[in-house]
Amino acid sequence: MIIEPRMRGFICLTAHPKGCEQNVINQINYVKSKGAIDGPKRVLVIGASTGFGLASRISSAFGSGASTIGVFFEKPAAPRKTASPGFYNAAAFEKQAIAEGLYAKSINGDAFSDEIKMKTIDLIKNDLGQVDLVIYSLASPVRTNPKTGITHRSALKPIGQTFSNKTVDFHTGNVTEISIDPCNQDDIDNTVAVMGGDDWMMWMEAMKEAGVLADNAMTVAYSYIGPKLTEPVYRKGTIGRAKDHLEATAFDITKALEGINGKAYVSVNKALVTQASSAIPVIPLYISLLYKVMKAEGIHEGCIEQMQRLFADRLFNGGEIPVDEKGRIRVDDWEMRDDIQAKVDELWEQATTENLTEIGDLQGYSDDFYNLFGFKIDGVDYTADVNEIVEIPHLVD
Ligand code: NAI
Repeated sequence: MIIEPRMRGFICLTAHPKGCEQNVINQINYVKSKGAIDGPKRVLVIGASTGFGLASRISSAFGSGASTIGVFFEKPAAPRKTASPGFYNAAAFEKQAIAEGLYAKSINGDAFSDEIKMKTIDLIKNDLGQVDLVIYSLASPVRTNPKTGITHRSALKPIGQTFSNKTVDFHTGNVTEISIDPCNQDDIDNTVAVMGGDDWMMWMEAMKEAGVLADNAMTVAYSYIGPKLTEPVYRKGTIGRAKDHLEATAFDITKALEGINGKAYVSVNKALVTQASSAIPVIPLYISLLYKVMKAEGIHEGCIEQMQRLFADRLFNGGEIPVDEKGRIRVDDWEMRDDIQAKVDELWEQATTENLTEIGDLQGYSDDFYNLFGFKIDGVDYTADVNEIVEIPHLVD
């Protein structure tokens, strides 16, 4: 079929298999161009199909020659109905990995469930014995806690008072004022239950219990801080509470893994266009201004540049892992530079519908968004008939 983008709000209902494949190949080529990374050889990535998780899997496999198991929650294609982009990405990743003789298997299902944890542990036992690195990169609006059976839904709200600021509809470029009402305690609790560290801890405990974590195993989850501008809706809002919890959980996991000398880290990453971040009000306007400033300075990065740098310069640099005063790894260092933030602040004050295409990188934002779904990728013929049905070669049932 001929596949075109069908946008609805901040999601796209279609995805292009060839575009997603090219996207994955471009990321692989980037990692290869940067040279070998002295990283671990057996890696589990939870949330491996898009965004930072996919880039982490690519950095491990094509930077360090690692065997990888990827867990994700994606929709396969049906006749005349495209798969979710993460499904096409995972298929493309496995195809490329297999072509290079790398072990790569995937599990598609709810990572929050006991069932998927057990399935993953069995696969590790059977195929790899143990893993040395576990990347935890889930982004989800909902989680059913397997112990209580309660389904929690996260909220993206300020705490304490209404937050009013500018935002942009990145499809139209319209800059408007929005007001977001403050949350209640349930919103905070539910957001922490979904995006905090509870499930990360469950994974690590289950894996340790099953003996599938190697001595000195490491686990890394991803967090975000961001500027003062977005604080009320991000770091000091409901999602920020979840990130506080995730960051605190790293210490609890390190303690729980003492017996095997395991270590848990949180890496604070840069703001990027992903399916998760485009759903957060105010953030798209911030990102489009940030992109403009960082591109002008020649320090712009996407997910793959971020993860390649995390792996090569932070996690597996041959020496100490550099951390901030709160024990966090920082690859948001360029985003948070004073000169960058001062310029973004200045532009933020000026931003209107009329001038945003000029002072901000709305085009870059929009292109990145289309790219997430495999559209507007250089070298892909979108007029060609493509088969929407794509299988993931080593998907484990
Ligand atoms: P994403 O939406 O691109 O990827 C999420 C991944 O989680 C996908 O592989 C998806 O299949 C998987 N997933 C979601 N629910 C699942 C479930 N129930 N079971 C199994 N897999 C499931 O998200 P992104 O942006 O890469 O986020 C990953 C982490 O990075 C999150 O913790 C996020 O807060 C963090 N982060 C994101 C930043 C951004 O600007 N996008 C900045 C800094 C940190």
